[in-house]
Amino acid sequence: MQQRVTQALAGRFDRRAEVVARAPGRVNLIGEHTDYNQGLVMPCAIDRETVVAGAAREDGVLRVASLDLEDEASLDLASLRRRGDWSDYLAAAAWSLQQAGHSVAGADLVVTSSLPRGSGLSSSAALGVAVMQTLAALSELPLSMREIADLVWHGECDFVGVGCGILDPYASALGRAGHALRIDCRDRSVVEVPLSERATFLIAQSGVPRALAEGRYKERVAECEDALEKAKGAALVAESAESLRALASTALPALEAVLDPAAFRRVRHVLTENDRVEEFAAAFANGELANAGDVLQRGMRSLRDDYQVSVPELDALCEIADAHPACHGSRLTGAGWGGCTVHLVDPDGADAVSDAIEAGFAAAFGRSAEVAKVRASAGASLLPVAGVSAA
Ligand code: GLA
Repeated sequence: MQQRVTQALAGRFDRRAEVVARAPGRVNLIGEHTDYNQGLVMPCAIDRETVVAGAAREDGVLRVASLDLEDEASLDLASLRRRGDWSDYLAAAAWSLQQAGHSVAGADLVVTSSLPRGSGLSSSAALGVAVMQTLAALSELPLSMREIADLVWHGECDFVGVGCGILDPYASALGRAGHALRIDCRDRSVVEVPLSERATFLIAQSGVPRALAEGRYKERVAECEDALEKAKGAALVAESAESLRALASTALPALEAVLDPAAFRRVRHVLTENDRVEEFAAAFANGELANAGDVLQRGMRSLRDDYQVSVPELDALCEIADAHPACHGSRLTGAGWGGCTVHLVDPDGADAVSDAIEAGFAAAFGRSAEVAKVRASAGASLLPVAGVSAA
């Protein structure tokens, strides 16, 4: 991929690469729809990634080409605005750097990715992180990976307007090979959690695109904000509370009395999901994989019944895998409404579970679901620039 982008930069733009950067996608093991509620999440970066090659320009223009989409865009750094397409994520990275007071150099960029778009593996955050690293390096801005993660989040939230939390950029920027990250989205602390060799994680792709999910995602964000206001109105939480994180699951009986049934179910998911992250981390650390799998299954039920973000394909993938003796537990991962599921399996039975998922899904839906083993991978980094000369 590195060679493809450097060669394309030479071929399309007649430029020699000055910087090449990579940023991985992520799978979230547990802690779903908690990040924008300042809760707990536990993702790991995966071995599929976005790679960007870039060379600086003097004229304040950002020219970008996507090899996968076979599309090009030209953006004026002095007047960045949303266009409603893939280039918004690049513009967001430049905009966010500018908002933080940095002077961003123009650039020619070529992008490619092994992350399928809309698959729930966070292709947009990987694009944002890879592009921001490239722009920061070309503009000689000494930013840490943590700063890059925060700025990518700011761009995605306020320029693209997704209203998401920090889960995806943090996982992509700060991932560590062989580890998951336990992230507290309130104080933004990150703890690296070693993944045991006795456990394998599989990801299965439902093939259902998340294309229409954005509106429903924003609806969930708004429902959580409204519920917080109601809890404040009923004096169940301090007026100064910034998010549902200020409430513990012990407050659920009192919340049930003041929230309408749908709002209560949303809040119940969020508060119990925070507890599940702690439970999962503890069970995993103690090698209690059956218990860890049980936490995943409970998380799936909560996403399906309380948060209502599942679809029949995701339900089926989990049910098929959970029926196999080598599978400890399964859940949908990412926002839902499509995308992927994640399965905690016994390493010796991983291939058998994978086969069972593929066969069961094909029988139910008449098409295949791609299943892959998760390789917890290193977070984003700059790559050495190969000596490819301009055409
Ligand atoms: C999407 C968002 C994340 C997070 C998840 C749900 O992936 O980008 O910020 O909210 O959904 O956990």
